[in-house]
Amino acid sequence: METSFDTFYETEVPEDELIVSRADFSGKITYVNETFADISGYEPNELIGQPHNVIRHLDMPKSVFAGLWETIKNGDVWHGYVKNCRKDGGYYWVYARVSTVMKDGKPVEYKSVREPISRKKATEMQDLYDKLRSEEEGTTRVVLYIANDKLEAAKALEE
Ligand SMILES: Cc1cc2nc3c(=O)[nH]c(=O)nc-3n(C[C@H](O)[C@H](O)[C@H](O)COP(=O)(O)O)c2cc1C
Repeated sequence: METSFDTFYETEVPEDELIVSRADFSGKITYVNETFADISGYEPNELIGQPHNVIRHLDMPKSVFAGLWETIKNGDVWHGYVKNCRKDGGYYWVYARVSTVMKDGKPVEYKSVREPISRKKATEMQDLYDKLRSEEEGTTRVVLYIANDKLEAAKALEE
């Protein structure tokens, strides 16, 4: 049997920069700032025009995004904790605010501004989302620990 290993790293979200994106009413990305591109591991032009779920992490329960869309479609501001997936498969946690951009009194698109969260909060949210996914979607996240020397030996066999 062939075995392959992927190791996923967490990216630290900078404290002093905001991570900004905008999306049209269908959820397609129309703008990202440089910090957003850096933290997600993409070039801005790889993101613009893509559905916002390009950075969706599999650990996120569907109900969280259903709540997000219901809230913003109502014209309200959604706040919540989101785990996002980087282009390299790594991840980062943020606290996001998603709201409607108004022009001349009319909604034109949506925007999101995100900030870092504490380690404690990320652990708490991971547990909560694992529970929600298990209840709602019947899937369980499996975390595997392996001794470093065994991992190195297995990786060497692959090469
Ligand atoms: C302005 C805006 C920002 C969003 N930001 C994210 C985000 O950072 N990560 C994410 O997974 N989904 C984000 N979404 C939600 C996605 O559009 C999508 O609903 C979600 O990734 C789940 O994918 P799905 O709807 O295909 O199930 C955002 C939506 C809007 C309108």
